[in-house]
Amino acid sequence: MPHIPLPPQVLRALGEDSRAPTGLGVDGFMTPPSVAATPFDGDPFSSSAPADASLPPTPGVVDAAPSAPEPAAAGTSPSPPQQDNGAVSLDWARPSGPVDPRTYSAVTGLRDIEAFMCEDGEAGKGAYGSVRRAREKGPDGKPIGPELVVKYVIKQRILADCWKKHKILGPIPIEVHVLDHLRRVPYEPRPRLNYLSRRSGGAGGARKGPPGAHVRRDSAPQLDLWHGGKDGAPVQTGHPNVCPLLDFWEDAHYYYLVMPSATAEPTHGAQPRHGQDLFDFVDAHPDGLGPAPLQRILAQIADAVCFLHEHSIVHRDIKDENVVLDPEGNVRLIDFGSAAYVKEGRKFDTFSGTLDFAAPEVLKGARYSGKEQDIWALGVLGYVLICGECPFWSPDEAMQGLGPDTRALAALRAKARLDDGADEAAPRMSDAVDLVRRCLEIDAAERPSADAVCDHAFFVGRADGWSGSRGWERRDEGL
Ligand SMILES: Nc1ncnc2c1ncn2[C@@H]1O[C@H](COP(=O)(O)OP(=O)(O)OP(=O)(O)O)[C@@H](O)[C@H]1O
Ligand SMILES: [Mg+2]
Repeated sequence: MPHIPLPPQVLRALGEDSRAPTGLGVDGFMTPPSVAATPFDGDPFSSSAPADASLPPTPGVVDAAPSAPEPAAAGTSPSPPQQDNGAVSLDWARPSGPVDPRTYSAVTGLRDIEAFMCEDGEAGKGAYGSVRRAREKGPDGKPIGPELVVKYVIKQRILADCWKKHKILGPIPIEVHVLDHLRRVPYEPRPRLNYLSRRSGGAGGARKGPPGAHVRRDSAPQLDLWHGGKDGAPVQTGHPNVCPLLDFWEDAHYYYLVMPSATAEPTHGAQPRHGQDLFDFVDAHPDGLGPAPLQRILAQIADAVCFLHEHSIVHRDIKDENVVLDPEGNVRLIDFGSAAYVKEGRKFDTFSGTLDFAAPEVLKGARYSGKEQDIWALGVLGYVLICGECPFWSPDEAMQGLGPDTRALAALRAKARLDDGADEAAPRMSDAVDLVRRCLEIDAAERPSADAVCDHAFFVGRADGWSGSRGWERRDEGL
């Protein structure tokens, strides 16, 4: 049968018919209600570009301004000349910064897949398409610029509720919408103990306290991206642990998303591979990680999740395959294909994430809050990194959580005992275990917020951080 691509509008109208198999209903998992419902119908996150904004360069932002030419690598042609044609820059070595949505190739038509040299082998494959390593094609047909990935998303497999209308770009996959939006979200590094200081600081100003006390930070700093921050200084946007979108376009069959390659070229032979996704990393550490590398990885993911939640975005598919590591061990969260915008009090009734990482309320088919699901998934991921395997081997086990007689709890306790005799100042496995247990509370209301997760003793030390069931509350009372 010939393949007839459907435009997004038609897919939206088709609703149920356009659903990809979600994996729900297999292996004994219950099937939650399948009525498509995006919990937030408003569109507060559409581009903040003023209607009369001219094409880049946009004043005062760390924008897509082309970088100085790179030194030519042996056998390759020099970097491309400055792009004064309105195309977005693919040079991700510099902060990518906000872009005018009208400069994506989807609008300009300046790039399509012919503009890239893609490797034959896949860097990754998922339910909705595949990912290939690529570099831009220079004028002489040779590869130029940094290593990128191109994610091909099969249009027909995008779920009906995974589309969102963008003010400028029209209906686009939520993955593109969220990643484009994040390019305009101001980023300030999260202060240590943000959660505690915010709680005690009240609605307004900074908490009074001794010198050096942690001060409250506004979750959404008032920065004018189009004219710069204080004194017109550039504004950093996005999150360093979230893989940015550089460019995108579509054809009849696919959406093509261009992103930095978070991993270096695969190496061959006996040499270790530099950079990989966390799934492969766990495979290479079947007995789990030690507390120090675990802390480094998990803290970066928690910080990224906190940033998303602060800005009313949920990922909904946090798992080891959706985290990539660069050669220095820096983490990038990827794959926003299941992401969504959330609004206080509204719940989801569909789930397209991964069942091994699904919270009990999702498995029961109940309506669920995206943030609590993300925290559960973070707990599962933490367990996987500690023990080298999944905590729950069936939906029934997941619904029991870390109950007193469970295999998963016994495994965690055994890991926590490894602390005996360990350096007091070093990250402690028993703290990591406590954090995972808090995230894997069966009752979603008992799980910490992402903000509180970042202030757990495993990340900030026992003197400042909290631990134990609802420990963040006791911590607050003690201040
Ligand atoms: N920016 C990147 N750098 C390096 N590797 C990547 C990058 N993006 C994706 N990959 C690799 O490709 C795999 C698949 O990518 P991704 O998770 O985005 O697609 P997917 O699972 O098909 O997505 P979806 O859930 O939307 O179907 C990842 O697990 C990872 O190994
Ligand atoms: Mg994926």
